[in-house]
Amino acid sequence: MKDKKEKPIYLDRNEFNYEVSPLVAESLASFNPNDLCTYTRYFQDGIKSELSAYLGELYNVPESNIVLGYGGEHILKNAIHYFLSVAKNKKIMIPSYSWWYYKAIADEIHGENIKYPIHEANGEFSYDIDKLIEIANQEKPYVLLIATPNNPTGNILPLEDLKRVLAAIPADTIVILDEAYTIFRKNTVQYIAELIKEFPNLLVIRTFSKFFGLPGLRLGYGFYGNKLKNFEDFNTMYLGYNKLTEKLGIAALKSTDYYNDVAQKLDKDKELYLKELNRLNGFTVYKSHANFILVKYPIELKEKLQKALNKEHIIVKFMNEDNLNSHMRITLGQTNVNKQVVDIIKKTALDK
Ligand SMILES: Cc1ncc(COP(=O)(O)O)c(C=O)c1O
Repeated sequence: MKDKKEKPIYLDRNEFNYEVSPLVAESLASFNPNDLCTYTRYFQDGIKSELSAYLGELYNVPESNIVLGYGGEHILKNAIHYFLSVAKNKKIMIPSYSWWYYKAIADEIHGENIKYPIHEANGEFSYDIDKLIEIANQEKPYVLLIATPNNPTGNILPLEDLKRVLAAIPADTIVILDEAYTIFRKNTVQYIAELIKEFPNLLVIRTFSKFFGLPGLRLGYGFYGNKLKNFEDFNTMYLGYNKLTEKLGIAALKSTDYYNDVAQKLDKDKELYLKELNRLNGFTVYKSHANFILVKYPIELKEKLQKALNKEHIIVKFMNEDNLNSHMRITLGQTNVNKQVVDIIKKTALDK
């Protein structure tokens, strides 16, 4: 008998629900398998890889200050493991609401996690910058992790505030900036070179998984300031990365118009969520700079919402964390799916 079960629509993983860019598809189709017969590293040209050289040009950063990894996850894990294992000081500061994985990685090597606050006011979350600076100066952590945009709250740390933080914390604290959800636009590219120059203890991590919608490619990249050269040695693969992956990464970087169009669609659909659901009693939709949206709902509706979404095979993430347990994080789908989710939630909330 044929399996008639409908395929679930996963809106709980912050993946990409559009198609790859035509150029990425074309680059995959035209990849010459014989290219795999040699290593990626171009010893003779004095560069680490084609992709990091390309990124270096785009970002105006020396190629030597760029690292690659198996997703942002890999660079994050390597960085936290490396930094906390070489230091006596095992303190790492992470945002109070953040990707659970930060704490998990730090726990793996017995790091000491210190939380710093993110506040909620007027329909958005924001970092408490004064408090962050105060805690950093009190605790003197070896590593400070900042995520912008942050998962799951969707807020950013504006550049001016970031610079204020970097200038006000102990100079030897290493700062990891997780920018996995950053949108690739001129104004989000330009500041990197200046930032790592001015703050040599800074590592900025980005990925092809979110804006470029290629989480299955497992490709992340990072920029580090000159004091973190040892980390580069630790992280870099002597024989290079992966030729196919690098080629597709470059094709994605050449497709920014395509991905910016998608980002615009997502922005429009976030507006729909804000407009339609903020009107409902007990609901708050938080302003988000990422490819997901965080929604607070009346907790008594939890089961009804779960049932209504399940019925349509739609999976969203019902949060279950301290102070974030009557919230759901919904990854944006294509517009028709976003409209469907909004309708289901509205119907459930209005159904007495
Ligand atoms: C906040 C944050 N940082 C980094 C990542 C890493 O993504 P990837 O390893 O796919 O680059 C994720 C993935 O969901 C994330 O939510």
